[in-house]
Order: sequence, then C-alpha cells, then structure tokens
Amino acid sequence: MREVEALFASSRYLTDTGLPSTIYPMTANELRSKYIEFFKSKGHTEISGKSVIPENDPTVLFTTAGMHPLVPYLMGEPHPSGTRLCDYQKCIRTGDIDSVGDSSHLTCFEMLGNWSLGDYFKKEAISWSFEFLTGKQWLNIPVDKLSVTVFAGDEDVPRDDESASIWMSLGIPKERVHFLPRSDNWWGPAGETGPCGPDTEMFYDTGKAPCSDHCAPGACSCGKYVEIWNDVFMEYNKDKDGKYNKLSRRCVDTGMGIERTVAMLQGKKSVYDTEVFQPIIHSIEKLTGKKYGDNEADDASIRIICDHTRAAVFIIGDPKGVLPSNVGAGYVLRRLIRRSVRHGKKLGLEKAFLGVPAQVVIDNFKGAYPELEEKRRLILDELLREEEKFLETLKKGEAEFEKLLPNLMKNPAKIIPGRVAFRLYDTFGFPVELTEELAGEHGMKVNRREFDEAFKKHQELSRSASGQVFKGGLADHSEITTKYHTCTHLLQEALVRVLGPHVMQKGSNITAERLRFDFSHPAPMTKEEIAAVENMVNEQIKRDLPVTIEIMDLEDAKKAGARALFGEKYESKVKVYSIGDFSKEVCGGPHVEHTGTIGTFKIQKEQSSSAGVRRIRAVIVD
Ligand code: ALA
Repeated sequence: MREVEALFASSRYLTDTGLPSTIYPMTANELRSKYIEFFKSKGHTEISGKSVIPENDPTVLFTTAGMHPLVPYLMGEPHPSGTRLCDYQKCIRTGDIDSVGDSSHLTCFEMLGNWSLGDYFKKEAISWSFEFLTGKQWLNIPVDKLSVTVFAGDEDVPRDDESASIWMSLGIPKERVHFLPRSDNWWGPAGETGPCGPDTEMFYDTGKAPCSDHCAPGACSCGKYVEIWNDVFMEYNKDKDGKYNKLSRRCVDTGMGIERTVAMLQGKKSVYDTEVFQPIIHSIEKLTGKKYGDNEADDASIRIICDHTRAAVFIIGDPKGVLPSNVGAGYVLRRLIRRSVRHGKKLGLEKAFLGVPAQVVIDNFKGAYPELEEKRRLILDELLREEEKFLETLKKGEAEFEKLLPNLMKNPAKIIPGRVAFRLYDTFGFPVELTEELAGEHGMKVNRREFDEAFKKHQELSRSASGQVFKGGLADHSEITTKYHTCTHLLQEALVRVLGPHVMQKGSNITAERLRFDFSHPAPMTKEEIAAVENMVNEQIKRDLPVTIEIMDLEDAKKAGARALFGEKYESKVKVYSIGDFSKEVCGGPHVEHTGTIGTFKIQKEQSSSAGVRRIRAVIVD
C-alpha cells in the first residue's frame, strides 16, 4: 500500500477541484480501517467480505451489495460470528455498464457495511451512523453539511417517523430531514422476494449552488447532494405474492460506498480524482502519452479502462475465479475486457496493454484483498489471452463494418438493420455492443430488437445477454430450494464415496426446479456409477436422517472431517451441518430438518463442465 499512500501525499493528486477544501482527506485504506475500528468498538465482529460471485443464488450473476452474502442470516439463520457484524465487500453492478465513463458510475465498487441480526434497531443504527460521520476522531463532517431522507409511507407501510425523530434528536434540523417515497427510501430489489424495509439515507452537501428550487437530497442528481450511506431497517419479507410480512426478527443492513465517500472527504469532484483511481489513470497516461483532463473523449476512455480493468481483476482474481466465456458472469467479464480494449484503441493502443493497469490494481488492492496477489499470474495471463483474441476479432469486424458503411449511411433513418449487426456477430464474432458504438460514432443506431430476434433464433440466449440477471435480487429460500440444498450435501458425499476422495466441489447452483453440481473428476461417470450415487442419496433420504447444526472453530471443523470449499474464505467460527452419520459440511444453510421430507432424488444429466470437471443436473421428483 505504501506506493499508493505516497502518490496520494504528492501534490499531483491533491490538485484543487474547485470544491470547498477537504474536511478530512482520508484515503480509502484509512476509511476502511476507521469504519471497522468504529463498529468493533460498538460490539461488532469483523467478518471477511465474500466472493463477488454469489454461491447458490441464481437470481444474480454478481454480489451487488454488502448484504448479499448475508441474506440467509438476515432471513433468520444464526450467524456463527454473532448478531453484530461489519465488513467491506467488493461488489459488481453491471446494469449500467453503458453509463460507465462519466465521472461517477462504476461497475465495480467497495461497500462498507454493519449489520444487526435481530439485535439493535433504528435508535442505535442511526446514532452510530451520526457518531461515525460527525465524530472528531472519525469522519469529522460538520453537522450542517448533512441531510437525511426517510421513508414517507404508503398504503402498505406507515411513514417512518421514528427514524426522523431520532435524527432530529441528534441535531439534524427538521428542514434537512426529507420524507421520500418508496422509490427512494425502501430497500429490497424490486420484483424480488426477500428481506426488505424502509431505509434512511445520508447526504453530504458539496457546497455547490442549488440547481433549481427543487434541488434536494434524493430528489435531484445535480451533484450538490451526494449520498454516502444507507441504513436499511429490515422489518419485512416480501413473499411471492408481493405481500409484506413482518419478520419475526428485525435486522439492520447498512451500506457505505467507499469510492464516493472518499471523494467527498477529499473534496474531489469525481471518484476518479482520488487515490483509488489516480495510479491506474497514471499508468494509462504513461502508456498512451495522453494527459487525463486534456480532452473529454479521451478522459471518458481512460475512465472506462480504469473501471473495467479493476472489475476484471476483481472477477478473475476472485476466490471463485471466473474466466472469460460466453455465458453468465464469464460473458460480463468478456464484455468488460473487450470494452476496455476498444477504448484502448481509441487512445491509440493497438497492442494488448491491460496487464499494465491490471498490475497497478493488484498492487493497490492486494493489502485489502490478498487473493489478488496469489492470483497475479492467472489474472495477467487471462487478460492477455482474451485481449489478443479480441484484437484479432476487432481487426476483421471493423474492416467489414467500414466496407458496409457507405451503404449503411444511405439509409435516411440512420438505422442499421439487426440482421447486418447479427452477421457481423455471427461471421466475425463482432459483439453487437461494438457495432452499436461504431454506429453511434457515425450518428446511427442498430435495430436492437431485430438483432435480438436473430440472435435468439440461432442460439439459446445466455442469461447475461438477456439482461435478466443484472437487476439484482436475493436468494430464494423457499421449501423446495432448501430441499435442494440438503440434497446437494448428500450428492457430494455420495460422489466422494462412489468415485473417490479426489472429488471436490467446483460449483453449485440451485433453483426451484433443479440442482446443478460441478465437481472434479477426470472422466465421464459410467451408468453404474450414476446409479450407485443416485441410490446412495435416496437411501439416506429413506433413512430420514436428522440434520443438525453446530457452530465451531474452522480448524476444529476441518479436524472433525467437515467438508469445506477449497479457496473459499470462511470466518474463524463456522456453521457445520451434519446429516446423520452420512455427511458433515461447512455451510451457511438453510437445510431441511429431516431427510425424509425431501422426496426422490433423480440425476438427469452427467456431462463435462470444463477440463477435469464434471457437471450433474438433478431433480427432486414427487
Ligand atoms: N443494502 C443497502 C444498499 O446497498 C444498504 O444500499
């Protein structure tokens, strides 16, 4: 970390941005440690952030908020580290990938969070937020710089007067407490099931002049008020019928975006002006000979490369390590890399270059995320491989586009037919997003609907390409998925017993319709092996084994022979689920209480997943 601190200290990175001078020019590293120190002093246990690829949640491709890995615990599972937790978590949100390049949107960010799992509620949460924001030894923000928003209430849930009066009792004047509707002050991804509730958001006034009479926190996005923290009061569970049911245990979930808060504390206009990104920008300046700040179009390209490289490094370097591919998270990764390459080309970089900013990212973040250093070689190799492949594709696709251009320009509606974009994709592997970008450069648009239709006809649309899973969501803990969770433990144990101890879990994905389990095994399973595994699982179901939970030290769990995912980060205390005398596994749950309730287990498919990894798809019938 020292290089970054040194850069930060040098005047080059403290240039005045025209905003009022800094309050407490804190680096991201300092903010991370202050936050954790503060919440530890309030009885919280620091837990380690989890993978950016969620386990067992088919509704999202990436971890989109600090609370995401904690959903089972917010829903009622006991957490091995207790009822007061805090952490920092890498998050990826790709819903607005096309907005990245402006001064504030990021696909990848870090979130600080503190949680109460049925422990404290509004009074403590709000008082501690206030203390951390304004306390002299913490962020030291003057109270008159702060405003808050609270839930205004609607036909389902009443107005949150309690939060408003707590804020006022702490010294936030009435006129800076704003009541806003569900669209602003409610948390829990729309259209999904899971824990949710009213929230209260904290805003910092940058001192800019108001943009209009309506300029207010949450109500406009002119940049005068910057949201820095959100305290969510999870009192409800939204069920499949859209009903809000009161949770028996009330929880608190909070989230503070590191990049934005640091920019605010340093008085910077943009997250890119902070030490989080400046060293990455600097590496791109060196490569291109361009100077950040000289030209808006170049600046946007530099920002896109910065953000996407950081996201790509975090994704490849993740303990679950996704590689570029044509489906799911791998496809998003591929898009991030490819978009960076395209913008590199705009800056005049014709050869693979991402290794340079990627090294800077690894160096800057390895303190907070040691796995990046462990995977340095893999990250650099994968970036290089993907870049070179794509540069070749680009060469061919762009040449073809140029050939087509004179004809396309003749269309007075300036629309490129979807079938032309599809041919570029199908024949040259040229991604439609890039055809759209090239089209935009010539004042044209692609008929995306027509492209999508053509695409659908030719291959099953990958989940990521359809955009369905970008929206964010919560894990499904319905009865049926709970049965699949328990079945997955039985399956893993049966595989080890039938095939041998080399079998290791490589991935698991559960929906209400099926389970999918990836595991290491060098050859296709024989019919006999499949039957033996299936029978063994069904035998355990018939035995109606009890499922029990124990909380123990990770080391003790390993000594007791509990299976744990290699490479996954665990807390020092873990939950171990035992299924009778048959299986013992470190897991967050939830599980059924007795195997007899599961039903009949059936393996539908056994196939290759990748080199040395097999994939089983199985269902529960009746
Ligand atoms: N989960 C809440 C958020 O992401 C705290 O804003």
